[in-house]
Amino acid sequence: MTAWTEGKLIAKKHWNDNLFSLHIHASVPLFEAGQFTKIALDIDDKRVGRPYSFVNAPHEQYLEFYVVTVPEGELSPKLLATKEGDTIWVQTRPVGFFVLSEVPQGKTLWMLASGTALGVFLSILKTVTPWERFENIVLCHAVRQAESLSHHELIEQFKKEHPTQFQFVPFVSREETPGAFSGRITTALENGSLEKHTGFTFSPEESQVMICGNPEMVKECMTLLQEKGLKKHTRKEAGHITIENYWK
Ligand SMILES: Cc1cc2nc3c(=O)[nH]c(=O)nc-3n(C[C@H](O)[C@H](O)[C@H](O)COP(=O)(O)OP(=O)(O)OC[C@H]3O[C@@H](n4cnc5c(N)ncnc54)[C@H](O)[C@@H]3O)c2cc1C
Ligand SMILES: NC(=O)c1ccc[n+]([C@@H]2O[C@H](COP(=O)([O-])OP(=O)(O)OC[C@H]3O[C@@H](n4cnc5c(N)ncnc54)[C@H](OP(=O)(O)O)[C@@H]3O)[C@@H](O)[C@H]2O)c1
Repeated sequence: MTAWTEGKLIAKKHWNDNLFSLHIHASVPLFEAGQFTKIALDIDDKRVGRPYSFVNAPHEQYLEFYVVTVPEGELSPKLLATKEGDTIWVQTRPVGFFVLSEVPQGKTLWMLASGTALGVFLSILKTVTPWERFENIVLCHAVRQAESLSHHELIEQFKKEHPTQFQFVPFVSREETPGAFSGRITTALENGSLEKHTGFTFSPEESQVMICGNPEMVKECMTLLQEKGLKKHTRKEAGHITIENYWK
């Protein structure tokens, strides 16, 4: 049975009508950046919880969760309707293996995110580990519309602090946006334009790739990378691709 800790919503940031960040005060044990927990609301006398990745780094005081409203979903529309001061339950024990301690060494770390999966990478990038371990870091964020690109200030801060080590590559699939790739990440993987743009190639010798978000995006990216000689990483057999799906 899930053990729950009572959290208080201390602030909420709306990135657009469907996307928002919850800032929660709750006492949870130390986690590793990249892990997730469940958050829950009591709805009609039933506790409804879903997994969400931490966006905050382990050392930060408040928890942040970055959520998209799935209109027909059970929990996310209710999370959208929460107000400061409301109780939000947080699963006491953080979980998950989408963490850098599970990722083998490489020269370039690629982080491929669709939608709200950006958050898990921000948590990792707020820690010192990726900057110490990898010579180059490329964060790709794929969204439908430009209004769903978020956390601009934090991303700018990473760019400023690591001007040669870090590249941010936004993808907007359903409209033309200056400064962003048009279309899907998979297209840019297939036609080589992502490698050309960043100046780095995907190779088993140099690359470690973390992919998170929409399961179809994860699967298709993995297939394309496997065609380039990269292998899925497992604890049994070291490889180059580490994945997390946000739904089935
Ligand atoms: C390990 C893990 C970490 C997760 N972290 C996050 C997170 O940080 N932020 C977040 O918004 N969601 C995250 N999710 C998804 C989240 O748990 C919920 O499924 C989501 O918020 C919808 O909940 P719901 O009850 O409203 O609808 P549900 O009934 O749970 O979902 C209905 C459908 O909505 C779609 N869907 C679910 N989540 C998303 C999403 N994030 N983006 C696009 N479509 C989606 C899927 O088609 C799903 O079948 C994560 C899931 C997992 C497994
Ligand atoms: N984002 C919104 O404006 C919006 C509005 C209302 C409701 N919602 C709710 O939010 C949910 C999720 O929306 P989301 O936009 O965050 O996530 P999403 O549907 O996963 O889309 C995020 C990005 O991933 C791309 N993508 C999807 N499938 C892919 C695949 N197989 N291979 C490669 N790339 C792929 C999308 O491209 P494509 O655009 O080409 O699919 C888009 O660029 C929706 O199901 C809906 O319930 C979202």
